[in-house]
Amino acid sequence: MTTEAARKVIHERAPGVTARVGLILGSGLGSLADLVDGIAIDYSDLPGFPQAGVSGHTPRLVLGTLEGAPVAVLGGREHYYEHGRADAMRVPLEVLSALGIETLIATNACGSFRADIPPGNLMLLSDHINYSGLSPLIGEPTDRRFVNLTEAYDLELRAALKREAQTLDIPLLEGLIAWWPGPMFETPAEIRAQKLLGADALGMSTVPEVILGRFLGLRCAAISVVTNMAAGLGNEVISHEHTKASAPVGAEKLAQVLRAYLSKAG
Ligand code: HPA
Repeated sequence: MTTEAARKVIHERAPGVTARVGLILGSGLGSLADLVDGIAIDYSDLPGFPQAGVSGHTPRLVLGTLEGAPVAVLGGREHYYEHGRADAMRVPLEVLSALGIETLIATNACGSFRADIPPGNLMLLSDHINYSGLSPLIGEPTDRRFVNLTEAYDLELRAALKREAQTLDIPLLEGLIAWWPGPMFETPAEIRAQKLLGADALGMSTVPEVILGRFLGLRCAAISVVTNMAAGLGNEVISHEHTKASAPVGAEKLAQVLRAYLSKAG
């Protein structure tokens, strides 16, 4: 019902609008939305969209074209840690799906474990570990809830993003992210544990959205911007202020890769 109500608002503001690619912009990564030629609708006008928000996010839905591709951009997300709801982004993603998107690209900030993917760099997600143990599909009554996540991060889409990064001479190594529920950062012991399990980075979002994206049948990819080495692995003092201040370095590279990808997706 809420999804219908949000669709109605969109229909009133932008009759007949459709989109092919959905983007979720993470902390400090929102500036890409400013480049979209189209209309913006504040989340506060959209039932079921995140209403409070986290500093560093821009809570609006932007619909239009970017590099010629019809896009729907979520300028901010709700995280599990805000209200304890792992399915917080279900309505926005259902709305994007109803607008016609086939591809979802999520972005987020993360703490890296990898010396070869230091702060200021991008990491293309190859897979995830749901360290939180939470599910955005609890309560879904249909058999569609049994989502296959074998290839959650689409191989072709990853190859296309890597090709664009290579052409731009922007390093885009693949890595595996673990979902940390937050909002507190991790202890060094937790980072060591995750390293043993094979993770390359930790983040507080994206994983539930990719699960929902697969649930909705979307082709998914995700790019993390490394804002810091994870706890115990670097010298910087980890904080949200640091995340917001560091994100723009990687955000610039992220914008270049996404724009190059979109210029061919139109
Ligand atoms: N851990 C979890 N999430 C993050 C981090 C981190 O170190 N940095 C930015 N987002």
